[in-house]
Amino acid sequence: MNDIPLPPGPPARWFWSNALPAVNIAHALADLVREYGPIVSLRQGSQVIVVIGSVEAAADIMEKEGGSLVDRPRSIAAGEMLSKGMRILMARSGDRFRRLRKAVHTHLQPKVAEAYQDMQRENAMIFILDMLNDPKNHQKHAQRYAASVILRVAYGKSVPTSNADPEVVRIHRVMEHFQVVMRPGAYLVDRVPLLRYWPGYGKQLAEWHHEELELYRHQLRRVDSEVDQNKAGPSFTKTLLENAKEHQLSTDEMSYLAGSLFGAGSDTTAVSITVAIMAAACYPAAQAKVHEELNMVIGSDRAPTFKDSGSLPQLHAFLLETFRWRPVIRIGFPHRATKDVFWRGYRIPEGATVYGCHW
Ligand code: HEM
Repeated sequence: MNDIPLPPGPPARWFWSNALPAVNIAHALADLVREYGPIVSLRQGSQVIVVIGSVEAAADIMEKEGGSLVDRPRSIAAGEMLSKGMRILMARSGDRFRRLRKAVHTHLQPKVAEAYQDMQRENAMIFILDMLNDPKNHQKHAQRYAASVILRVAYGKSVPTSNADPEVVRIHRVMEHFQVVMRPGAYLVDRVPLLRYWPGYGKQLAEWHHEELELYRHQLRRVDSEVDQNKAGPSFTKTLLENAKEHQLSTDEMSYLAGSLFGAGSDTTAVSITVAIMAAACYPAAQAKVHEELNMVIGSDRAPTFKDSGSLPQLHAFLLETFRWRPVIRIGFPHRATKDVFWRGYRIPEGATVYGCHW
């Protein structure tokens, strides 16, 4: 099968020079897709990176062949040294990943989400008042909204009224560390693995790991004691603790899983809201159409509820277009092929890093 060619792409780079462009990565990958076709391969030494750049190819390869792509590429700085393998977004395939994923997915179903609708609506009302009173700080209001919703979903914590909530500040500091470590090429250890054993090299990552673990443990302990006192509201962590035996997760794994949920759902949600506002500002004619629909369906003497959702196709189209226009995770999150995957005469080889490029 080795004679089946890799997807087309630019000439290979030496292993020490990064095959992925360092700036404007989404645009650069889109240019490559325009030049070479819907799947492109890049080579850095013996490492193959495949970029999927069309919806059809993404559905064929990442959904139908999804089982061969659940793994993640090895990430020494972020995945191993900072997260000790417990951050679900970077967890390698295998027993721990299966346990983490099963535990998180039972709580991320549409039916479960319904339990949070009133809380989301309450927060949306606060957001709208914040926008009316202080429109210049719209990004901050979106961050408050997102932090508040995800804190409730993850820990059942009551609504923080500002971004200065001490717990939110601690969480944002931890997330900033993660973003620093995730920057492509940020840590040489990802290219020279032996560096991790160099005395003093991993000191900062070890400190940051300790800081996030302490925060996540503290949050888990708080919910645990609320459960003991019978005062815990519904939340992901409460469900996790109640089903701890079935999920077979250690205390630290549970702590990280709940913490990761906050990381996965807060900035992503805040950025999506901000982009929707930007789209409305850039395209007033599209905004006017949504406004007209809201006036017609809802009127001006009440706010919309989730029950109105099905009667607002223009609004839904606007939001979907917003996601397409400025995707939040522009090049997706990398996967690793655990066996050869074939698509239209090309071979994505076992071990390749695969990006589904949303842009
Ligand atoms: C607009 C908002 C969001 C965007 C753009 C977004 C984007 C993503 C992306 C690109 C991935 C990686 C998928 C992959 O493996 O290729 C991901 C994974 C994940 N997201 Fe989100 N996300 C959003 C909101 C949320 C929220 C609100 C939550 C939690 C309540 C969440 C929880 C997760 C989890 C747990 C994973 C890991 C899933 C797994 O590996 O099985 N996300 N998200």
